[in-house]
Amino acid sequence: MNLEGRVVAVTGAASGIGAALAEEAAARHAAAVAVIDLDADGARATAERIAGRGVKAAAFACDIADIDEVERVATEVTETLGVPGLVCANAGVNPDATPLLDAEPGSLGWALSVNVVGTWATLRAFGRRMAAAQDPGWLLVTASEHAIGVPFAGNGFYTVSKHAVLGLSDVLRRELPEHIGISVVVPGLVATGLWNSGSLRPQELGGPTPSQDLPRALLARGVEPAAVAALALDGVEAERFLVATHPHVKRYADARKTDLAEAFAALEAAGVPDTSYDVMEMAQELVAEAPGAPGEQ
Ligand SMILES: NC(=O)c1ccc[n+]([C@@H]2O[C@H](COP(=O)([O-])OP(=O)(O)OC[C@H]3O[C@@H](n4cnc5c(N)ncnc54)[C@H](O)[C@@H]3O)[C@@H](O)[C@H]2O)c1
Repeated sequence: MNLEGRVVAVTGAASGIGAALAEEAAARHAAAVAVIDLDADGARATAERIAGRGVKAAAFACDIADIDEVERVATEVTETLGVPGLVCANAGVNPDATPLLDAEPGSLGWALSVNVVGTWATLRAFGRRMAAAQDPGWLLVTASEHAIGVPFAGNGFYTVSKHAVLGLSDVLRRELPEHIGISVVVPGLVATGLWNSGSLRPQELGGPTPSQDLPRALLARGVEPAAVAALALDGVEAERFLVATHPHVKRYADARKTDLAEAFAALEAAGVPDTSYDVMEMAQELVAEAPGAPGEQ
């Protein structure tokens, strides 16, 4: 999907990967860029940088964990800039790194509310408007290497939330109308301010958490956000579902493939009969057989 002349909306675009996606979309001749973030000042700064290059840009303050607010912003973006041709559901947080047996429920609730509910709310609000508009469109979701097999001990809630993001994207891929596609980018370490996102944890989920030295030091060693944004938008333009950015992640993805191969080899060895219980095939058969289905009396 070519980005030239498209309206592009990016969440989490005040900083890091989101800001880089917004700027890269402008560099690829997007018609306009909607810069969406909880951080209104940061969003305005990104929009000003883009406008300074001669591309129309507007900033929208939004907490993506608030489904109604996301709906309101999707309406505002559509009314002011037009229905987006590309929506990057990128905003996310990384809760404090704590082993799962010691972690607090507030961090799990927060990871799920922003990374999962917020991503879904973004895809739903914009996806519905794009579906109704009938023009070709694309969704880009920022997951993580943690979604495809990097089991980072000590950061379980983040890993849980990013698996969920991949799951919802994979289902959506089958449910979207034909004129809308979806890609998921799965970056490894990127040099952004994500290490400090604990400062954003809301009071009702336990309030801000102090920043930690290890995440800060790790992220400082990451690749530049601009490199990830360029690969992600290359993936969108090539219409690939999964977009990798860090070659070493293949080792972890391969380890998961090995686990799967071992599990099914053991099943075969146990002599369990290969009767099909394929849930997707069975659901299709049941729908086709239901009273009122085409071909049914
Ligand atoms: N930095 C990495 O190493 C890395 C690796 C893989 C994936 N990611 C993912 O990339 C995405 C962007 O993160 P980043 O690394 O650029 O970090 P970042 O902290 O620089 O950017 C995240 C942005 O999201 C915004 N945000 C946070 N909560 C929000 C909310 N509730 N509503 C709206 N906006 C909100 C923040 O204000 C911030 O501008 C996240 O989904 C993150 O999980 C990051």
